[in-house]
Amino acid sequence: MFVTSTYRKKEMFSEEDPDLVIFHANELITMSTRFGAPRIGENMSELAIINDGALAVKEDRIVFIGTTEELMSKYEFGKIPTKLDATNKLVTPGFIDPHTHIIFDGTRENELSMKLKGMTYLEILHAGGGILKTVRETRQAPLEKLVRNGKKILDRMMRYGTTTVEIKSGYGLTTESEIKQLEAIQILNEDHPLDLIPTFLGAHAIPPEFKDKADKYVELIISDMIPKIAREGLAEFCDVFCERGIFSVKQTRKILTTAIRYGLKPQIHIDEIVDTNGALLASEIRAIQAGHLLKSNDKGLKAMADAEVIATLLPGTPFCLMLDDYAPARKMIQLGIPIALATDLNPNCWTESMQMIITLACYHMNLSPAEALAAATINSACAIQRQDEIGSLEIGKKADLIIFDVPNYNFLPYHFGVNLVSKVIKNGKVIVENELLD
Ligand code: NIG
Ligand code: FE
Repeated sequence: MFVTSTYRKKEMFSEEDPDLVIFHANELITMSTRFGAPRIGENMSELAIINDGALAVKEDRIVFIGTTEELMSKYEFGKIPTKLDATNKLVTPGFIDPHTHIIFDGTRENELSMKLKGMTYLEILHAGGGILKTVRETRQAPLEKLVRNGKKILDRMMRYGTTTVEIKSGYGLTTESEIKQLEAIQILNEDHPLDLIPTFLGAHAIPPEFKDKADKYVELIISDMIPKIAREGLAEFCDVFCERGIFSVKQTRKILTTAIRYGLKPQIHIDEIVDTNGALLASEIRAIQAGHLLKSNDKGLKAMADAEVIATLLPGTPFCLMLDDYAPARKMIQLGIPIALATDLNPNCWTESMQMIITLACYHMNLSPAEALAAATINSACAIQRQDEIGSLEIGKKADLIIFDVPNYNFLPYHFGVNLVSKVIKNGKVIVENELLD
């Protein structure tokens, strides 16, 4: 039978015919890793943009990326089952939220009026509110309720473009209730389209039954909680809230070195309220990521740059605490520290929206829109050690991406307080369609 050479060419590709293509994207942000992963310094602004961009997906993977013209000449368009026209739209990697506390029961909206009257975060905590109020309610909640609460939050995160989420325990503070929280994460990870990364944060606060006996509580974490959680494979990371009046540098070091011995990867909350030399500790312990860093000193920041610790900045927290101080992001970029962004979603700072966090990062920390987007995608992937799979749009990586109803990435912080997402694709499947914005 006679076949033309073009036909033969198409046949050759037929096995690779994609399941889904996106074409005519006004801007397709690839965030290609050839600029480094994580991106640091000037490379934070290198987004590797393709204009009139196109992308093809087979199963859960990206199999082609280029211009629409290249896409059209490579595949027989009519055969492709799902074709998404992204004319006048922006396509980016899915957001990765690498620092959250979404498994809890009870809310704390009443604390806003306390904060408005000038009460500080630690004053509210030491009066039995804050984390301790959430601990009381989370301990009482059945597992199913925690799963239900978590699902509601994840559904909203997904609609706002987040495709992978790190989630911490830390509102149980007993072996049993910490495990209950981690089990809730495990159930959600099986049932929910988003990918979840579990972190054990038993050292989130001193529980009331260990008041003035913090070392005894540290002992419980080390000798009981970490071994059990590691044995059951319930967490990948271990985190500690290292802060004056919470866990000291010495206690944090002890907990994290034990966690490392049990195969958990270290991360820390540091220097949020006062400088306790947390940044030095983060580099000494070779934490994968360290969160907050509002008050970190220069020596510690330089050490973090040398040790390549990712600084996960959480501008939602100073915003909700009504502080004037935000983490010194410009200084960090100058020092060569890789910066990631996260929501820190918790009952004190409740937003599912990485778009909101990008806005806060630009308006309060002077990140450029390009830097903020790199921080919320490829650098966030590095903060949870998933940069080989997600965080950029490249052949072979997972097809986790967002189509925004805006023409370019400068709109993300600029048109704020609303959801700009038109569609979300996770593992190659369309999981969010916003008819209003199609
Ligand atoms: O990262 N700082 C400690 N932990 C959380 C807050 C938790 C809470 O207030 O419930 C944070 O901000
Ligand atoms: Fe946090």
